[in-house]
Amino acid sequence: MNYGYFEEKAREYVITNPNTPAPWANYLGSPDYGAIVTVNAGGYSFVKSGAAGRILRYTFNQFDEPGRYIYLRDEETGDFWSASWKPVAKPLDTYKSECHHGTSYTEIISEYNGIRSRVLYYVPMGATHEVWRVSLENLTDRERKISVFGYCEFTTESLYTQDLVNLQYTQFITKTEFHDTFLLEQINEFNYPRPDGTTGRERFFGLAGAKVASYTGRREQFLGRSRFDKPQAVVDGKCDNSLNYNGNPCGALQFCAALKPGEKTTAAFLLGQKTVFEAKEIVDRYTQTAETVDKELQELIAYWHGELANLKITTPDKNFDTMVNTWNAFQCFITFVWSRAASLMYCGERNGYGYRDTVQDIQGIMHLDPELARQQLTFMLSAQVHHGAGLPLVKFSHNAGHEDTPEQDSYVKATGHPSYRADDALWLFPTVYKYIAETGNTAYLDEEIPFADKDVGTVREHLKRAINFSMTHLGPHGMPAGLHADWNDCLQLGAKGESTFVAFQLYYALIIMKEFCADEPEYVKYLDETAENLLKILNEQCFEGDRFIRGFREDGVVIGSKKDNEANMWLNPQSWAVISRGATAEQAEAILNTACEKLNTPYGLEVMQPSYRYEYFEGARMRLFNPGTKENGGIFCQPQGWAILAEALCGHGNRAFQYFKESSPASFNDDADRRVIEPYVHGQFIEGHESPFAGRSHVHWLTGTASTVMVGCVEGILGLRPTPAGIEISPAIPKEWDGFTMEKVFRGRKLHIIVDNSAHKEGKPAKVVLNGVERAAGVIPADELKAENDITVIM
Ligand code: NOJ
Repeated sequence: MNYGYFEEKAREYVITNPNTPAPWANYLGSPDYGAIVTVNAGGYSFVKSGAAGRILRYTFNQFDEPGRYIYLRDEETGDFWSASWKPVAKPLDTYKSECHHGTSYTEIISEYNGIRSRVLYYVPMGATHEVWRVSLENLTDRERKISVFGYCEFTTESLYTQDLVNLQYTQFITKTEFHDTFLLEQINEFNYPRPDGTTGRERFFGLAGAKVASYTGRREQFLGRSRFDKPQAVVDGKCDNSLNYNGNPCGALQFCAALKPGEKTTAAFLLGQKTVFEAKEIVDRYTQTAETVDKELQELIAYWHGELANLKITTPDKNFDTMVNTWNAFQCFITFVWSRAASLMYCGERNGYGYRDTVQDIQGIMHLDPELARQQLTFMLSAQVHHGAGLPLVKFSHNAGHEDTPEQDSYVKATGHPSYRADDALWLFPTVYKYIAETGNTAYLDEEIPFADKDVGTVREHLKRAINFSMTHLGPHGMPAGLHADWNDCLQLGAKGESTFVAFQLYYALIIMKEFCADEPEYVKYLDETAENLLKILNEQCFEGDRFIRGFREDGVVIGSKKDNEANMWLNPQSWAVISRGATAEQAEAILNTACEKLNTPYGLEVMQPSYRYEYFEGARMRLFNPGTKENGGIFCQPQGWAILAEALCGHGNRAFQYFKESSPASFNDDADRRVIEPYVHGQFIEGHESPFAGRSHVHWLTGTASTVMVGCVEGILGLRPTPAGIEISPAIPKEWDGFTMEKVFRGRKLHIIVDNSAHKEGKPAKVVLNGVERAAGVIPADELKAENDITVIM
């Protein structure tokens, strides 16, 4: 069953049946003023922190309530409904609804009883307030009198947990005021305005473009003894103009519209954390509602569509196009900006950036906005400790050069992270490489950046120290120790256990560094010898003919041997053996075949199999999860991207694309009840074959899957592989495709690319025609590119 469709031209996902299997959500604004809005207008808003700056209440994991509700009431009959299907939820045979989730805006259009309503939710570019534009249209041939009630439920305290549980305090610190066009909620009122003029925590809910007919700041007055589907004030046709004093605050404002046949009207509700003066200024700004909103919406669309414009593909698979061109790309920006801050799964309590997640998130936008990527990359390099490791959690308040580290109790106390991960800083290598390759800015390697705690060094020096950290944390076999975790949060191998995955990451880092340090012969010699030695160890100690093992426990026992009953085959060592260029062609064939045979399911590849049940060990913390779930044999989605990339690098277009399709959200559009979460964004994992709910996905939006799958698609399937010297275009596509086209902006030059697959091959193109001149497939030097280029890749 499907609940909607992709409207690619507008870059929207349109939900036509609002009774979705989960609250399908969208992101508005930025973490400075963030808002999450769902198909039924559920969700919450916050200032800077989802947990510590919450201004709207939301009950996680319940009924997608409360929300940004607009109630409509027919003044003649008393019948009422909501502008989103829920909370009132009129029978769907009498109520038409379309929710358009776009790039940082959501519009919900409904039609009921001859009235069409459109509610547009957005946060203007760079602003820290939100707008709900309401437009009504009378579709009947008689005059209609409609009352409109806007409703939101304020928190009493910005710390959302306090608002939930510390009632003996929080119920008694707020009160509301009415100021003609808006309600203002005060918190600890004595505190504001501060003598220095700084803003407080007051929240406002205002109305522009219409006159307030009634209001209340008291949730209990608005709702009465009912819930959101039948608020007493809406039943009664008015609020009682009461204000909150010791209780649950809300913002509820009514306006009335008399609409002649065919007539339309527009007004806007406004919301934010502002002082009384700022609130008034904002509401006044929207008096010319339609014009102001149209302009702001156009700015928003121009910005986001501009961000997505550097790559446009047209292939025989529309779902693939929509994911690469819009939804996966937009999700990459959201993870890039929001990290793991706030969603309907994350409440915002993590006040920082996870090192590995963020460095990977940067890769997801590299082909679209490399300069934005560089800013965050520089920030992450500044969060490397002087000895080369990455800080496990980089505080939002990060102050490079002055930070505490896991060696100090203060850091552990503040972040809850007691020690280093084996992989964190190693993610820098592919990310720095991708930045330099996309831009040609090799001078970046010489840029000086502080370390987190002390010292300053060039980017190259940062990378050298990262290698040094791995090389000074080796286990008994000479492979990187697994430490507190490698990529897998649930694998704790300690100082003596070793990780094959990290060994391949280190191998890749050494190969990349050779290119970055080409004019340092002594260092290159060291890199060569180290790489050779590491590969020898991997081949001698970890290769079992058809697979690489996962590593060694602290007591030396092998993890992931084919002799084991459980967890005898793991995905990441296989894909990373290929991605790192460590595997020979023969090994690559063998290990990728085993991965396909042992791990693949109709919904993607399981991260390992069989799941741990009985034969787990102390550091195998994934046993906490049910078999087939998350790291315990679930289809962890981040590794799907690596599997796609690995297959594509081997020229296996059929399998690369098969893996894309199996786990791609869009593939589930017509089987949406199975997947449950949104068919337009990746989740963290999908339940594997051992679960009775195989195919169900979880942890929407904020996941590393966005970037790895993006890279798998762009570098892998589409074969767009920039190098410092230029760009290689080496697609790996399904055999049956006749070809496809790509419009790519590379270092400011336009590439009009046609891939001709009349030979019906899967990968490894034969030749390339650049501006009419034929050449062998391989890297096209950047200096041979003109402002506009016609490129034909012949497979
Ligand atoms: C989710 C975490 O955010 C990520 O850092 C980790 O790599 C995966 N879980 C796998 O454990």
